[in-house]
Amino acid sequence: MIRFNLVDVRNDNRSKVDIDYISENTIKKVRQFHKGFDEYSVTPLHKLENLARHYGLKNIFLKDESYRFGLNAFKVLGGSYAMGKYLADRLGVDISDISFEYLRSKEVKEKLGEITFVTATDGNHGRGVAWAANHLGQKSVIYMPKGSSQIRLENIRREGAEASIIDGNYDDAVRLSDEMAKKHGWVVVQDTAWEGYEDIPTWIMQGYGTLIDEAMEQLRDYGIEKPTHVFLQAGVGSFAGAVQGYLAEKFGKDRPITIIVEPDDANCLYRSSLSGDREIVGGDMPTIMAGLACGSPNTVSFQVLKDYSDGYMSCPDYVAARGMRTLAAPIKGDPQIVSGESGAVGAGVISLVMEREEYKDIREKLGLDNNSIVLLISTEGDTDPDKYRDIVWDGDCKSV
Ligand SMILES: Cc1ncc(COP(=O)(O)O)c(C=O)c1O
Repeated sequence: MIRFNLVDVRNDNRSKVDIDYISENTIKKVRQFHKGFDEYSVTPLHKLENLARHYGLKNIFLKDESYRFGLNAFKVLGGSYAMGKYLADRLGVDISDISFEYLRSKEVKEKLGEITFVTATDGNHGRGVAWAANHLGQKSVIYMPKGSSQIRLENIRREGAEASIIDGNYDDAVRLSDEMAKKHGWVVVQDTAWEGYEDIPTWIMQGYGTLIDEAMEQLRDYGIEKPTHVFLQAGVGSFAGAVQGYLAEKFGKDRPITIIVEPDDANCLYRSSLSGDREIVGGDMPTIMAGLACGSPNTVSFQVLKDYSDGYMSCPDYVAARGMRTLAAPIKGDPQIVSGESGAVGAGVISLVMEREEYKDIREKLGLDNNSIVLLISTEGDTDPDKYRDIVWDGDCKSV
């Protein structure tokens, strides 16, 4: 059963957290940095009009991040921008004034010496950091939690990183990378913030901003100013906070309704929305949504979500599996989309909420009807292809 908590953030007069750092203007500059990579191209925004009709919605758009830099996930946007910004700051220059080519030049190496970037990851973030370090001619060390997929580990090693799976969960891996950085003078590029570590995670959130900036431009090409509803999946919430902040800054009170979606095993934001405080979930997190298996909300993005997000959902694994299948086997006329476990949970939510009688109440509370234009972001493709086929071909995690 999907659990849902609607929060009234629209009618309170509390002063809200500053979101200028994630404004459209700021993100245009971030996107300029990303354009400096040869691999940069705008990822597709698919229109699923037949699926929308089937569900009784006006339209569904899905941003497909499996095409990002050939890495099968959006995450590289964050790590690459944060690492570029770190180097620019060390050089004492504005990142907008220098090129990516310059950052990887011999001159920069001579000035700064060899740098090792270190991080913890479920897979996608680490692959992005390894890729960016490689492109910048620097080193990377990556730690993965117990139970991480072998294929994801190998893909990270293929980018030139020293990578390993540790005997601990995601939060243990984060702690280890911090300890190792202190011991060896490495630079932590973590995709979550905690007290005293907020600059790099903020730059990572800014890096993610590129994808929503692209999506808004692509919607405009369809003659649409904004979606009415946006579903954002969350691990620590950096991605969701970035998109939420951008939309809130751009549209103010007229912003789309945003719903944060998490797996039951790691629903720290859902729980936080119920208690009003930043809640932490511990222990092993066996969810298939590996990218969302994080129990501690990012302290920076938490404030953004708390002030601006309208609702929170906590989902069993079969919701993500159903999303993967609906996208893999589209209604005739719609494009086929390869979306992984963490990428497809929004599509899974829509499929169940729109089709099942028991979710009528959620449909009504959110005003999901034939005037609704829904934006989904598939944040990864089949980053674990064996698992993908177990689910999509062989019917693992069947919905109930
Ligand atoms: C594919 C995918 N989607 C979504 C997320 C969630 O991002 P965040 O941890 O910033 O909430 C991740 C995080 O690793 C991910 O890998």
